[in-house]
Order: sequence, then structure tokens, then C-alpha cells
Amino acid sequence: MRVMEDRTKIIAKPLFSGRKILWVGCVFILAVMCVSTADVIYSLRKTAAKSDAVVSGFRQRSRLLETLRTLMLRSALSPDSDGERAIESSDLPAAHLQANQILEQFGASLGASGDEATQQRLDDLKSSINQYWDSLPIIREQNASHPVTPPPFFRGAERRQIRHIARQIMELNREQQDRAGAQLHAEHDRLQGELLISSLLSLAVVFALIAGISYRIKTTERFAEQQYKDVVQARAELQTFAGRLEQAQEEERRNLSRELHDELGQTMAAALVELSRIESEMPQDTAAKAQLASVKSELEGSMRSIRDIALVLRPSMLDDLGLVPALKWQGREVARRSGLAVRVEADDDCESLPDTYRTCIYRIVQEALHNVVKHASATSVAVSFRSTNETLLLTVEDNGKGFRPASEKGMGLLGIEERVGRLAGLVRVTSSPDKGTTIQVTLPVPAVEREEVR
Ligand SMILES: Nc1ncnc2c1ncn2[C@@H]1O[C@H](COP(=O)(O)OP(=O)(O)OP(=O)(O)O)[C@@H](O)[C@H]1O
Ligand SMILES: [Mg+2]
Repeated sequence: MRVMEDRTKIIAKPLFSGRKILWVGCVFILAVMCVSTADVIYSLRKTAAKSDAVVSGFRQRSRLLETLRTLMLRSALSPDSDGERAIESSDLPAAHLQANQILEQFGASLGASGDEATQQRLDDLKSSINQYWDSLPIIREQNASHPVTPPPFFRGAERRQIRHIARQIMELNREQQDRAGAQLHAEHDRLQGELLISSLLSLAVVFALIAGISYRIKTTERFAEQQYKDVVQARAELQTFAGRLEQAQEEERRNLSRELHDELGQTMAAALVELSRIESEMPQDTAAKAQLASVKSELEGSMRSIRDIALVLRPSMLDDLGLVPALKWQGREVARRSGLAVRVEADDDCESLPDTYRTCIYRIVQEALHNVVKHASATSVAVSFRSTNETLLLTVEDNGKGFRPASEKGMGLLGIEERVGRLAGLVRVTSSPDKGTTIQVTLPVPAVEREEVR
């Protein structure tokens, strides 16, 4: 018992049951999954909003550049040759203002995303446009004073100026495209990074949980294993203890039986002999002689009772003559007392058995016969005891009313099972109502025990 307590101290019982840990773990993993899904949805929405903003900014700026380009082209047309699309000279200042406003809007649309190079390019474009626009009334006047048929779209220096501005606008536009692409790319990378981090975090949490749960399960398993070992050991200890107790009990019965038979029995026999001698010396037909006869018969009755008790406690023939005679005597006694037909068959080589086995077999037969007399309402019972190789086979079979072994079990049958179990044997009780009862016991006899006997 002390050993069990010490072991319980070494491996402490886990605080929480494995099922609780599993539940908490699952809920935690679900929570982590929900949080990371919400984070992904939030990030996706943020990225989509940013992408929309980038695309709409790009579109707005492209539209502005397109309007500016159209304005520039219309300014270069001669009102005389292309009155519809050309800008009237009186409208030039307003158109100049519009061009400047477009550039202002473009700059504002760049916002914080506009870097120094773009700003520089924008400033260059602004100064080119202002220069061009300032020189436009003069160019128109020169064109009007020197008309050429058909009027050229652009001429000399002004043509170069316009082409330069057009190239600047194109470059700005291309830059815008690149910038929008880069911004979308950066946004995509950021989202990827966020997803990677949240996935790694979830994975780490899941792994930590799995490790925690595994550890708990292992602790619980070790605890259960230790408890199982303790229970097995306690059972073994209990069995050994019960075996020793039985041995001591048997020894006590043997001593008591001998004491009753040899001491008390002999003393009473001597007293009886003495009484017989006194009786023979007494005169015939006296009251004293009659009293003496009555005392003698009571003494004889007591002697029989003492002999019976001694035999029931432990028949001396079990130790003196052996198992088979003891079993046969027991059969005869049961038959005498109950009127049952008792048949005992046994192999002769069953005699050479150790005391543990002899006592075990004798007590099993005693209990089985007792049960037949007490419960079976049988007319006959057969006891068979055989030895084959290293196995002992005992069968007690009656023709009584039978019973249900699975549901009816008392101390007697349990005692048989325990005795047989201690010697690593097997008990089989076959019975059903009105079909009689058969108890079969198989006992392995280890080689060592046989050697000892030889
Ligand atoms: N040979 C038999 N025939 C019919 N019934 C039996 C027989 N042997 C046992 N039984 C039934 O099985 C029950 C259990 O028997 P068991 O020997 O374990 O206990 P018990 O005889 O009632 O009590 P105890 O043996 O402690 O005096 C009995 O009460 C009886 O009903
Ligand atoms: Mg019984």
C-alpha cells in the first residue's frame, strides 16, 4: 500500500481531463481561424479600396492629360481653315487658363504619391505650355499675315514646341501608368505579406496547441498506465496475502483437528476404557451401573462429534493417506449423511501432488458436494479427478435442478474461483434449469512443482 501512495505522488494526476483540453484547444483553434479570416477579409477590402483609388486616380489624370492634349492640338489649328475645332483668338486667354487649371488639377491629383521627378516634369511641362501659350498670339498673327495654302498644321519652331509638349505629356502619362502599376504591385505585396504573417501565426498557435494537447494526453496516459500497474500489483499482493491467509487457516485447522483427534479424542477414549473397567467391576443391576452406562454412551456420542468436527476441519487422511482416499472418504460421508449416490473416480498418480494442490482440490470438492446437497435436489453426483501431462482435471457433475451460473453466485463459488485463480487455473460452471450442474476445474501443474513431488 505504501508503494502505491509513493507512486501516486511521483506522477501527479492531471488537473484537467483530456476531453476538456481537447474542447478548449478546438475552441481556441476556431477562434484563431475566425480572427485570421476576418483579418484577411479586412485586408482584401482595404487592398481593393486602395486599388480602386489608384485606378480612379490614374483614370482621372489620364483624362486630364487627354483634355490638355486636345486643348493643345486645338490651339494649333487655324480658325480660318478649321473653324469648328480651332480656338478663336479671343478665346486663347481662357484656353490658356484652362490649360493651367488642368495642370493644377493634375498636380493636386498626384497628392502625396507624386515624387520629385514627376513634380519636376510637371513644372517643365507647365513652363513649356506657358511659353507656347504666350507666343501663340504672335504665331497666329504671323500665320495670318503670311497665309499659305493649304495652311500647315504646324510650322518650324512652333511645330517643334508643340511636339516637345506632346512628348512631355506622353512621358507624363507613361509615368502615370508605371506609377499606378507599381502602386498596385506594392499593395499586392503588402497583402501577401499580411496573409503570410497571419497564416504563420495561426500555424504556430495550432502547433503550440497540438504540442500542449499531446503533452497532456501523454501525462494522462502515463498516469493511467501507472494506476493500472498499481492496481495489478495491489491485486497480486492481495492474492498473495489471501493465499497466505488460507495457508495459515489450513494450518490452524490441521493443528486443531489433530489436537481434537489426538489429544481430546485419546483422553476421552482412555476415560471410556476406564469407565468400562469400572463398569465391569460394579455389581449387576445397580442404579449406579445404569448411570455409568448412560455416562458412557454420552461420552461415546461426544467422541463421535469430536471426531466428526476434526474430520470436517481437516481430515487427517488428507495428510496421512493422500488426496484420493480423502476424496473417497468425503464422498462416503456425504452419501451417508444425505442419501445421495456419490461416485468418486480418481487416477492413482494424482497422489503425488504438492500440499497446495491437494488442499485446493479437496476444498473445491467439499464446496461442490455441499452445494449439491444444499441446492441441487439431485439423486446422484459424480466426482472425477484425472491428471494428464501437466494438467489436473476435476469434474463434479450432478443430476439436480440446475441454476443460472451467470446470475447466481455466492461466496462458495467465488471461493472456488479464487482458489483456482491463485494456482493459474480455470473454472467452468455449466448449468441450466432442470439440466443438472457440472463444475470443471483445470489446473496447470508447473514442472517445478512436479520435480518437488518426485
Ligand atoms: N449444484 C448446484 N445445483 C443447483 N444450484 C446450485 C448448485 N451450486 C450452486 N447453486 C446455486 O448457486 C448459488 C451460489 O452458490 P454458492 O456456493 O456460491 O453460494 P451458497 O451455496 O448459496 O452460499 P455458501 O456457499 O456461502 O454457503 C446457490 O445459492 C444456488 O442457488
Ligand atoms: Mg455453497
